[in-house]
Amino acid sequence: MNIPMLDLKRQYQFMKKDIDNAISRCLDHQLWILGPEVKEFEQKCAEFLNIKHCIGCSSGTEAIVLGLRALAIKCGKEFFSKNDEIITTPFTFTATGDAILRAGATPVFVDIDPINFNIRPQSILDYLQSKAENNAKGILPVHLYGTPCDMDTISKIAQKYNLFVLEDVAQAFGGTWQYTKLGTIGNISAFSFFPSKNLGGFGDGGMVTTNDDELAEIVKFLIKHGGKDKYNVEHIGYNARLDTIQASILLAKLKYVEDFNNRRIAIAKRYSEELADIEEIQLPPILEGCVFHQYTIRVKNGKRNKLQEFLKEKMIATMIYYPLCLHKMKVFEGKSRVSEKPVEAERASQEVLSLPIEPLMTLEEQSYIIKSIRRFFKK
Ligand SMILES: Cc1ncc(COP(=O)(O)O)c(C=O)c1O
Repeated sequence: MNIPMLDLKRQYQFMKKDIDNAISRCLDHQLWILGPEVKEFEQKCAEFLNIKHCIGCSSGTEAIVLGLRALAIKCGKEFFSKNDEIITTPFTFTATGDAILRAGATPVFVDIDPINFNIRPQSILDYLQSKAENNAKGILPVHLYGTPCDMDTISKIAQKYNLFVLEDVAQAFGGTWQYTKLGTIGNISAFSFFPSKNLGGFGDGGMVTTNDDELAEIVKFLIKHGGKDKYNVEHIGYNARLDTIQASILLAKLKYVEDFNNRRIAIAKRYSEELADIEEIQLPPILEGCVFHQYTIRVKNGKRNKLQEFLKEKMIATMIYYPLCLHKMKVFEGKSRVSEKPVEAERASQEVLSLPIEPLMTLEEQSYIIKSIRRFFKK
């Protein structure tokens, strides 16, 4: 057996007819820029998520930048300034923090919860309370691995300190918090349609969602160079539209996303049941609303890399998301702050290991992975 993290060829075969038809329609109409599929996809997503505005864009990274720029423009500034702080997690993909820099603000990295790996609300509060005067403007929670952040507590903190909330939903399409779809709770949210995401295109793509009409309007012109009239623009914008062809593929895949998320959850439950007796690993909690973009275990006693090597020999792919916290990356040196030392984030980067979570993985493949992990721990 040879088990990849994800098998996009298998997924394509599963929905080939839908995807081929979608692409073929685009070939016929040749409306490549903001063609009819973009609007249709945005409308279908708005229905699915139960939100007023969905605006397709060129990537998840751009979606965060666009969301932040829209928040700044709404407050009357073109960009945030270096004094403006945005509180986020150091345990995420680079793009989260990088987008904050690109929007002109300073990321403040606070520690994570050691169980679900998401930003710890108490750490946000500790940071805000530690300063007599603070320049915090917003909170940027990331629903890491498809696991919802505690949005009730985060929203309460944001309200108390008059902060915006931008949700990074790159890894959690279809996930919920208290039965409300992720990406609809904060002021504005960013999704990614990178091919490996729960809803992934055949290339880069992303989306901004919001219930705020003014923010939506701003994002709509920012993706088209920054003006209502692209030959006479008011703001520094981007060429960041979602391609018609990506929208057509995403539309075709959208109808499978709930089924695929349920398949991910079923695999996660099986892993959790059959690995539960291994003391040297900590399993992710099976939380309501989690869509298991990744199933990430924590391997104790310094055995993470050895387990990864062992599984590689058995032809089982695994990944380390993420080997280095953002506050340790060169790009953030001198451009970010940490509240207290994010010890839990640093420990997580040494211990996490994500297992294959291909929604179409067979029961035999799942058994092989489970058996191999049990063998490593002599169980
Ligand atoms: C948490 C997180 N934020 C942002 C991004 C950026 O998305 P993209 O790759 O579509 O730019 C990603 C994924 O790639 C991500 O995992």
